[in-house]
Amino acid sequence: MTRRFSGKLVLVAGGTGGLGRAVTLAFLEEGAKVVVTYRRQTEMDALNSAAGIHTASLAGRIVDVTDEAAVSRLVQEAIAESGHLDVLVNTIGAYAGGATLWEANPAEFDRMLKLNLLSGYALMRAVVPAMLKQGSGTIVNVASRAAVDHSGAAAGYVASKAAAVAMLDSLAADLKGTGVRANSVLPSIIDTAANRQAMPEADFAKWPKPEDIARIILFLASDDARLIHGAAVPVYGAT
Ligand SMILES: NC(=O)c1ccc[n+]([C@@H]2O[C@H](COP(=O)([O-])OP(=O)(O)OC[C@H]3O[C@@H](n4cnc5c(N)ncnc54)[C@H](OP(=O)(O)O)[C@@H]3O)[C@@H](O)[C@H]2O)c1
Repeated sequence: MTRRFSGKLVLVAGGTGGLGRAVTLAFLEEGAKVVVTYRRQTEMDALNSAAGIHTASLAGRIVDVTDEAAVSRLVQEAIAESGHLDVLVNTIGAYAGGATLWEANPAEFDRMLKLNLLSGYALMRAVVPAMLKQGSGTIVNVASRAAVDHSGAAAGYVASKAAAVAMLDSLAADLKGTGVRANSVLPSIIDTAANRQAMPEADFAKWPKPEDIARIILFLASDDARLIHGAAVPVYGAT
């Protein structure tokens, strides 16, 4: 097992979620200290159990990631404790679909913007100044295939994910030559418990596993990917 992240501090927003949990465990396996945001104690307890011998390297904080002040406090505390913050992975997001733009509940549009776009905005505003000061750091924002493949009956989701990719592209342009890199990944349906429950008739074998996507996220966050900056990487295989 390579330990590319020994001595590194990684922040995984949404680190107890379907994908976030796999990302967190993969970083722990490779020697990182990981701070996750979470909302439900049962999920944090489950992640702690799954972390096994790495539990001491895992910390959880209850934070509403759409609250910019709370995110800023979280990042400042994490940096005060360890003196650096090396990687941010944002796995916060939500899906709403099934209704046309004119029939969908406007509150859902707002929720999509908050969770799929503003979460990343708040996180990046908080971490980038610290990474610039260090002259190093990597950011991976989890968007969606829907950012580039615009299906119907999901206007809020599609628009918020497309905007998240555009925002990250613009950030990447700002970060050129600074030593700080930023990339997006674009999953399609992931083999999570929630998706299995929502689509019980589907062929689960065709869906990428969270662990497979986590491996790509770790690659993008690692020095091996030092030439990759401002990319939106499709991670949906042949689905
Ligand atoms: N799953 C898929 O098939 C799929 C496909 C394409 C793209 N994606 C994207 O991949 C990412 C991860 O998806 P996932 O399936 O792992 O989602 P998930 O299981 O719902 O995980 C998202 C995590 O974010 C947390 N969260 C939601 N709102 C939050 C807030 N305001 N503050 C702090 N935490 C909050 C959730 O907590 P709670 O559990 O308490 O809500 C959950 O732990 C998302 O960006 C998603 O849009 C997923």
